[in-house]
Amino acid sequence: MTPIRIAITKGRLLDSSVAMFKRMGIECEALEKPGRRLILPLDGGRIEAVLAKGEDVVTYVDHGVCDMGIVGKDTLEEHPCGVFEVLDLGFGKCRMAVAGRPDSGFFSSGGERTAATKYDSIARAYFKQKGMDVRLIHISGSVELAPLLGLSDVIVDIVETGDTLRANGLEVLEEVCPLSARLIINPAAMKLRKSELDALTAKMEANLK
Ligand code: PRP
Repeated sequence: MTPIRIAITKGRLLDSSVAMFKRMGIECEALEKPGRRLILPLDGGRIEAVLAKGEDVVTYVDHGVCDMGIVGKDTLEEHPCGVFEVLDLGFGKCRMAVAGRPDSGFFSSGGERTAATKYDSIARAYFKQKGMDVRLIHISGSVELAPLLGLSDVIVDIVETGDTLRANGLEVLEEVCPLSARLIINPAAMKLRKSELDALTAKMEANLK
């Protein structure tokens, strides 16, 4: 039988994904010690786990080469596509926020304002909805550097513990939205393998923390 292929976001979401599979009683030894392997058999080969970056998890599920995926809501918002978002998995909880120096006066000042972000779409939509004219500067990592170096007034970024902001003299100025890991499913797979995917989704739902 063809295994159900599930793409899992590497990094922060991986440990919590493994913990969830264990609660579900799914054997996932390969996933605990992946080494350099990127496609791993779970549950005696009934499931195939694919390890990828969040953006690529969305691409693989959208194109149907993976049936399901585990990805952060931030990545889903930033890369809208045709996948079904079926379950809030409840882990990987953090928030998208506008952050800057406490005295930045960002929301009270007029004139040209700038924000650095990895999340251009989310930031654009947020400032548009607030009627603010903000120039965005795309940065691909350690976004907190931008206001420290004088490149931007604020950042729009993920805040989890707040440690990175605190360590760099920055703070949350406004919260954009709460975030967490989501289960996504390819629409064609949802039709073709409905009973199997429904059963796995239900098992996940029954084993959320
Ligand atoms: C994320 C985010 C912040 C940090 C927030 O970065 O972009 O920098 O985590 O976490 P905290 O509130 O717990 O300090 P990540 O570690 O993914 O690295 P990157 O910025 O290089 O992408």
